[in-house]
Amino acid sequence: MAVIAGNWKMHMGAAQTRAFFAELDLDESASKNELLIFPPVSSLGVAAACPDRDSRIQLGVQNIHWQDGGAFTGETSAAMAAEAGASHVLIGHSERRHVFGETNEEVALKIAACCSHGLVPVVCVGETLSQRQEGRVDEVILGQLDAALQALEGNDGRFLLAYEPVWAIGTGETATPDDAANAHSTLRTRLEAALGLAAAVRRPILYGGSVKPSNAADLLGAANVDGVLVGGASLDPRSFAEIAAAGGR
Ligand code: 13P
Repeated sequence: MAVIAGNWKMHMGAAQTRAFFAELDLDESASKNELLIFPPVSSLGVAAACPDRDSRIQLGVQNIHWQDGGAFTGETSAAMAAEAGASHVLIGHSERRHVFGETNEEVALKIAACCSHGLVPVVCVGETLSQRQEGRVDEVILGQLDAALQALEGNDGRFLLAYEPVWAIGTGETATPDDAANAHSTLRTRLEAALGLAAAVRRPILYGGSVKPSNAADLLGAANVDGVLVGGASLDPRSFAEIAAAGGR
């Protein structure tokens, strides 16, 4: 059993969303997985109401604001996301951090908002290429994880982590299964220290960065890789179904 999540980013309007679910043909083994799709917020209602959506697929949003409401043009609150059909929220995706300047402090506020509205945060961490070349992978990802753990303190609810090395996102460069296993075991060890062994094991750690049908099984077979967060390859129902089948094996 693995978590197979698709982050559609700013792709897939309403018509494409309907077509995706109509064409998605999941094989039996895919049911062993937890399946998640993060459409753009404008397609969330369509996805939630889509009669063709396989009921095994849960939905999420790619970002929220931490306030419940107010004069925040262009933003969506946790309560609004939940009402529109989201159960999960991507928090601190590298594109939010690096393109929109989101900080660890904002990530923490967003996690707290998820917790107060019963949404499951999927907290993303990952180093840039220059941080990796400087040998700072552990320092960067543990710093991001620690900020998230502070926000989660005292909250026994579910959360997921996603390790997404920035240099592997949308580049076709994939971390090797060993790279993923190293980073994931660093994260798992910190989770165990913070939460205790039993609770840490219940927190899946997903790998993201150029996951596709041809490399999904190898990545999912790496130590401490409990699932994948897929960008580009999740836009095509056939490749999403193949990745989901790899997770069910
Ligand atoms: P790609 O799979 O397109 O590299 O994107 C990964 C990602 O950012 C998922 O959140």
